[in-house]
Amino acid sequence: MTEIACIESSTELQARPPSAAWLRILSLIYDPFVWLGEMAGMRRRRSTLLGGARGRVVEIGAGTGLNIAHYPDGIAELVLIEPEPAMRRRLARRLQRHARVARIVDAPAECLPLADASVDTVVSTLVLCTVDEPERALREIARVLRPDGQLLFIEHVRASSRFLAACQDNLLEAWRRFAGGFICNRPTVELMRACDFTVAADDVVWHGMPAIVHPLTVGRATR
Ligand SMILES: C[S@@+](CC[C@H](N)C(=O)[O-])C[C@H]1O[C@@H](n2cnc3c(N)ncnc32)[C@H](O)[C@@H]1O
Repeated sequence: MTEIACIESSTELQARPPSAAWLRILSLIYDPFVWLGEMAGMRRRRSTLLGGARGRVVEIGAGTGLNIAHYPDGIAELVLIEPEPAMRRRLARRLQRHARVARIVDAPAECLPLADASVDTVVSTLVLCTVDEPERALREIARVLRPDGQLLFIEHVRASSRFLAACQDNLLEAWRRFAGGFICNRPTVELMRACDFTVAADDVVWHGMPAIVHPLTVGRATR
């Protein structure tokens, strides 16, 4: 099947993009910044989630490639989508280190250069909370998934505790600037359901990280 050419570029989709210099710094500090959180359960969580990946797998916002080590050997193909050049460079290096075959593609989740119904598994870890247009990204995911396809996700969500939710609201702008557009209190599961996904998800806590990013949702969404 012929793949679709993307018309929009990732920068056109962002109203106020973080500076390129800051995004470069972020790509350097990302792994050390999340290291404790990875050790305190995130690595195990990635591994469990990605054990369910099958067929043609597309990961959106692959970042520095922290998921690469966790894909099962049996998957048919791995496509890593990442719009940020500095992240892509680190992703390519990690891919080499792991000697895993994958294609790295420069694209935003809102405009995937992939054919309709051509993907078995889409993976999104800490990305739907960062994209500028989550509904548009979810519609793209729905478009590229085969009818029996799945979206596997780990995403930040709004806290159920009123105190923590208020902290997330108050620190939203500062954290958004620091973390390159990341929205810590986005109602991602509700957005998935509004986009006609059937969602099975668990709320978990991301230990080893600042409290406002503790609340996570982990699960699987299908059409
Ligand atoms: C918090 S990082 C998560 C990286 C990785 N998925 C992980 O689990 O460690 C968010 C990633 O989403 C990427 N990103 C930002 N906007 C995006 C968009 N519109 N489409 C796809 N990826 C995007 C960023 O460049 C960054 O690599």
